[in-house]
Amino acid sequence: MAASVDEITSRRRMRRNRRFDWSRRLVRENRVTVDDLIWPIFLIEGTDRTEPIDAMPGVERLSVDRAVAAAIEAAELGIPAIATFPYIPLEKRDASGSNILLPDNLINAATRAIKEAVPHIGVITDVALDPFTSHGHDGILVDGIIVNDATVEQIAKAAVLQAEAGADIIAPSDMMDGRIGAIREALDDAGYQDVAIMSYATKFASAFYGPYREAVGTLGLLQGDKNTYYLDPSNSDEALRETELDLEEGADMVMVKPGMPYLDIIRRVKDAFAMPTFAYQVSGEYSILLAGVEKGLFDERRAVMESMLAFKRAGCDGVMTYFAPKIARWLAQNG
Ligand code: PBG
Repeated sequence: MAASVDEITSRRRMRRNRRFDWSRRLVRENRVTVDDLIWPIFLIEGTDRTEPIDAMPGVERLSVDRAVAAAIEAAELGIPAIATFPYIPLEKRDASGSNILLPDNLINAATRAIKEAVPHIGVITDVALDPFTSHGHDGILVDGIIVNDATVEQIAKAAVLQAEAGADIIAPSDMMDGRIGAIREALDDAGYQDVAIMSYATKFASAFYGPYREAVGTLGLLQGDKNTYYLDPSNSDEALRETELDLEEGADMVMVKPGMPYLDIIRRVKDAFAMPTFAYQVSGEYSILLAGVEKGLFDERRAVMESMLAFKRAGCDGVMTYFAPKIARWLAQNG
């Protein structure tokens, strides 16, 4: 007589598939590859200069020529794209972040130099005012309020300059309403129909950006917080509505930021929209992981690769991470 369903179920042993390396490989559901990586780098003025960032051991600010060298390294490692973030000296910042409108400012100079040296690497430029403002906010500040529409107008202009410099993907990280539509229109009007937009669609008002603020020099500058424009970490439905709007306005790819504390959002966004979805494993996540490693609490490679798998499992197509070159090297060693 045939065994009953109950009997068969009771004979099920989940460990059979886990017995061998080959069988584990055979049933593996998610893999991290070099194609999943975006490497964020920090820029400083000058030539042949690097500057350490205390809060982010192992990460440095790079002068443009050093950024070019980093881009060459990234291309050799097979990393598809880099993302640039400028450190603008205090004397060049002002209340409206006007330096962002200079065609040859630091971020645009870096894009030109990188694109000339390594045309086949993707360059993603962050278009937000915070590195350029004297108050560290992502928008124009008038009487204590971040003014939405004037900010949008300014970053749409800045996006065109970034495209003109050679950026492949414009990544607005400011969370102003309507900026994706405005940037799309401005790019199209200027003839940059093929330049893509990666929207920081769901960017939360997070404590985990702490180390980044040292990296771009906004740490002591920021007055108040960003709660009137970034998403409340309490909210998940709202994150979907934000993403939907950005997609309707023309975003080609969407980003969830930060990453590890927001894996639920990544999964919801991927399931709801089936669009290219990315996570930003932000500075605080990087620094936490490294601090754990430095304390001897866990192995760096295992912990970092596990975090990457978590992103893949959650539905990410790729991850922006300061660990990108390290991960690429680990993957190459396995080769
Ligand atoms: C702001 C911006 C932030 C980051 C990149 N661009 C957040 C902020 O400073 O409020 C954070 C990136 C990181 O923490 O690694 N436009």
